[in-house]
Amino acid sequence: MQIFLDTANIDQIKQAHELGIISGVTTNPSLLSKEATADYESVTRKICAIVSGPVSVEVLSEDAAAMIAEARVKASWAPNVNIKIPITAEGLKATRVLSAENIKVNMTLCFSPNQALLGALAGATYVSIFIGRLDDAGHDGMQVVEDIIGILDNYPELDTRVIAASIRNPLHFTYSAMAGADIATVPYNVLMQMIQHPLTDIGIKRFLADWKSVAKK
Ligand code: G3P
Repeated sequence: MQIFLDTANIDQIKQAHELGIISGVTTNPSLLSKEATADYESVTRKICAIVSGPVSVEVLSEDAAAMIAEARVKASWAPNVNIKIPITAEGLKATRVLSAENIKVNMTLCFSPNQALLGALAGATYVSIFIGRLDDAGHDGMQVVEDIIGILDNYPELDTRVIAASIRNPLHFTYSAMAGADIATVPYNVLMQMIQHPLTDIGIKRFLADWKSVAKK
């Protein structure tokens, strides 16, 4: 199990990186817009200077030829850039070409086992399942993650890794780990929630109070 950080915020990436538990970063155009910048290249270069693991950068083109051209440029920004491509017919065509060029593709916006399996067959290194958005639409996001993991287990020749994405709370992370997701990409606030437990805070206070009481004697 690996954790990627799902953000384009440089301060958050620096802070999470210092924790020593982050293996990569995922971004998307919406996350860039939260940082009020359209300079995807500059943000990507800054992230890649902090994180040596995979950094997912999304294409904005919609037809295969344009996706491929865009992906080649974005992959040249840093050696650890992966390319996020949405699961569409055009996206599958682009994934096949890019994978053959050893450009790693994160097939994104997967909402069904079939979509994820098609991404795997096209050669995607990762398939991202959007749990929170499935839940928002009244579906069971975790079940979709479990289903695709089960399907890929049937076909060991497919070495595509499953990313549990659109994680909205610590339980999404726990259940993703229980299901055997290879990676969960988590927002910074969820990562902070995962660290905390009220009994840990109470325990620290009690240890320190007990130590002070005996250390005075
Ligand atoms: O990695 C995909 C993720 O950023 C989507 O999350 O919360 O916008 O559904 P969300």
